[in-house]
Amino acid sequence: MTCNILVGGAWGDEGKGKCITYLCDNDKPNIIARAGVGPNAGHSVEFNGEKYGLRLTPSGFVNREAKLLIGAGVLVDPEVFFHELDYLDKYDIKSRSFMDYRCSMINSEHKDRDRGSEHLFKKIGSTGTGCGPANSDRVLRTAKMAKDLSELENYISDVPLEINEAIDNGEDVFIEGSQGFGLSLYYGTYPYVTSKDTTASTFAADVGVGPTKIDDVIIVFKSYITRVGEGPFPSEMPQEQAEDMGIEEYGTVTGRRRRIGSFDMDLAKEACMINGATQIALTCVDRLYPSCERTQDYSALFGETKDFINEIEEETGIPVTIISTGPDLKATIDLRKELL
Ligand code: GTP
Ligand code: IMP
Ligand code: MG
Repeated sequence: MTCNILVGGAWGDEGKGKCITYLCDNDKPNIIARAGVGPNAGHSVEFNGEKYGLRLTPSGFVNREAKLLIGAGVLVDPEVFFHELDYLDKYDIKSRSFMDYRCSMINSEHKDRDRGSEHLFKKIGSTGTGCGPANSDRVLRTAKMAKDLSELENYISDVPLEINEAIDNGEDVFIEGSQGFGLSLYYGTYPYVTSKDTTASTFAADVGVGPTKIDDVIIVFKSYITRVGEGPFPSEMPQEQAEDMGIEEYGTVTGRRRRIGSFDMDLAKEACMINGATQIALTCVDRLYPSCERTQDYSALFGETKDFINEIEEETGIPVTIISTGPDLKATIDLRKELL
């Protein structure tokens, strides 16, 4: 039995989608449960030569045996949910996707309020997906829940009950966090943050699992840092420098150009501490060190790449168990057998 949580270590877009897909395809958990804020997330998955952009469906969907659950703490936009059921139809997700009956619903009014808000959309740079207004309605206790919408009838479940029974039966559960540490409502760069805490403890609560049940917290860092939207970014670099280094990026949900910066050790240490991280997954190593593109073998990495990885391990005190050297699953160095 294992119950693991994966979290983002910076301002989102760390490559969680790739890491989750790799881990779920490799380890074959019985349940993959989505935690985090809601459809403001954009996870990218590359599998069997195809690319997918997901906002609500757990990125582990490629594991066809797994049940795909959305926790009560996650906001659901029914339009996005039904769109993804069709979009991923060839993975047969309609028969194995369920959300908790207590999930709060996002409606068009929430999206209008988000996009029409000078403060949220212009000042904070929100994704405009209605998440902030929907979470505020939940706090005001006026939000509708999934059980209130008849069209969701076939996709409703008691997620904590399913997960805790699975754990008690010795099955494996994987909890997918979204966003990242720097976007946490409490620990991030307030007010330039999202509408909820985004650390491991909250992700466990989102899906109804108590802290005593968690085995590992895997934190994902990208080899450089990106941020979309406004707010402090201590290690930010000029766009021209990012272009020269070939590491410019655009957002999955909004298409916005991402701000780029170098790896921030102070942020990484704080993120490891507050998440209680036990393993680090380091992504986009190939973009910083092109020599290691698609490498699957640690010993083939050049000295400067190994030095970078060693420094992260020494400073944080957490082992780097997964090294991602490209967007698709095969481009992964998995050191868990050696290091754990
Ligand atoms: P959020 O929920 O928005 O935080 O999403 P995310 O963490 O899944 O990241 P997102 O998919 O938005 O952005 C990461 C980008 O990096 C995607 O385009 C991935 O395909 C890509 N990617 C992930 N890992 C690697 C890697 O090791 N190398 C390269 N070159 N690209 C990668
Ligand atoms: P909101 O969550 O849409 O309210 O946006 C608030 C802030 O969080 C903005 O800066 C967004 O760009 C950022 N944000 C929210 N979700 C994500 C994500 O999944 N990846 C990256 N940034 C995000
Ligand atoms: Mg993203």
